[in-house]
Amino acid sequence: MAWQRISTSFLVIAVIVLAADVSFSTASFPSLLTRKSGPTSTTPRSKPACTSPSPSQPLAPSPSPYADDVIKATLHAKKPPAQAMLSIGGANSGPGTFSNMVSDGDNRAAFINSTITTARKYGFDGLDFDWEFPSNPSDMSNLSIFFEEWWKAVDSEASDSGKPPLLLSAAVYFASRFFIDTPRAYPVEAIAKYLDFVNPMCFDYHGSWDTSVTAGYGDATLWKSWKLKDPKNHGIGAPADGIGPGNNGILLYSDIVAYNDEHHASVVYDGETVSEYSYSGTDWIGYDGPTSVEKKVEYAKTKDLGGYFFWALGYDMNWTLSAIGSIKYMGRNALEPT
Ligand SMILES: *[C@@H]1O[C@H](CO)[C@@H](O)[C@H](O)[C@H]1NC(C)=O
Ligand SMILES: *[C@@H]1O[C@H](CO)[C@@H](O)[C@H](O)[C@H]1NC(C)=O
Ligand SMILES: *[C@@H]1O[C@H](CO)[C@@H](O)[C@H](O)[C@H]1NC(C)=O
Repeated sequence: MAWQRISTSFLVIAVIVLAADVSFSTASFPSLLTRKSGPTSTTPRSKPACTSPSPSQPLAPSPSPYADDVIKATLHAKKPPAQAMLSIGGANSGPGTFSNMVSDGDNRAAFINSTITTARKYGFDGLDFDWEFPSNPSDMSNLSIFFEEWWKAVDSEASDSGKPPLLLSAAVYFASRFFIDTPRAYPVEAIAKYLDFVNPMCFDYHGSWDTSVTAGYGDATLWKSWKLKDPKNHGIGAPADGIGPGNNGILLYSDIVAYNDEHHASVVYDGETVSEYSYSGTDWIGYDGPTSVEKKVEYAKTKDLGGYFFWALGYDMNWTLSAIGSIKYMGRNALEPT
């Protein structure tokens, strides 16, 4: 059912971050994060490695430049209409925020009401929950209660309004058991029952918090740079002794394109890690580029996955990676003008 609802049109993930303070009793509306911003004005959020926690970095809230109906008008004008999910959370929302929300019935009810009201107001097609991160078994069982109540509220709103029910999704980390400190497992039964899909997050294997290690990777349009020990040794895994260009070693894809151009950097696609990197002097940048995105989406298709999730559209360069992903996933007509 879920897949049928989704597959008729392709999914656009609009990433929304909560402004610094979340109030559950009022609909405090988050700011849109779809405008392109340079590395100096943006401190990107950080997500978990599949195997190690990463530090959380604050992301400055920016005012929404859009009128209420722009999302609806723009996305739904496509044929078939594109679907947009309103994503709530991110590293910036603080780990305790959602823990408090899910642990109390009144908080859950206020939050649920606010998400549905906001999604309908702006014409979103669904809601995504990005809690970074549930950290103990009690969080996980409360999360299960939250998913059930959220789904019931969405279902009931749909019958009241006569509109198609809002899609529900969540960003999760890949392991069902995250064993770094307190053992905990996602409530998979509730997820299977109440969510339309989940987007596993797998990145930040290495970063500025472990510069003693060798050159490695961050995530999709938000990338990590390193300072090579020896400029002549520049393959993947080459020794690094610090971070490279960018904001604390973090660059957006659009900045990497500009950097490579300005520094005439050597650009390499590595088939083994399905990733790309560039180097110039002792600067080394690992990232996803046109070829690796194409290969990864191709791989997702062979696994019959429902889609491919990457963060974040606004950090792309002229829609290069987004377009490659969409074409690979849906065929060339994905981008036909309508
Ligand atoms: C939900 O959270 C509260 C407060 O943290 C906790 O006492 C309770 O045990 C949790 N509920 C479940 C079902 O785990
Ligand atoms: C949210 O709460 C308001 C005020 O109680 C109510 O009128 C509205 O129907 C609720 N919306 C949803 C989607 O539950
Ligand atoms: C991005 O697109 C704009 C408009 O098509 C174009 O003028 C610009 O040169 C492009 N930039 C790059 C780096 O390709």
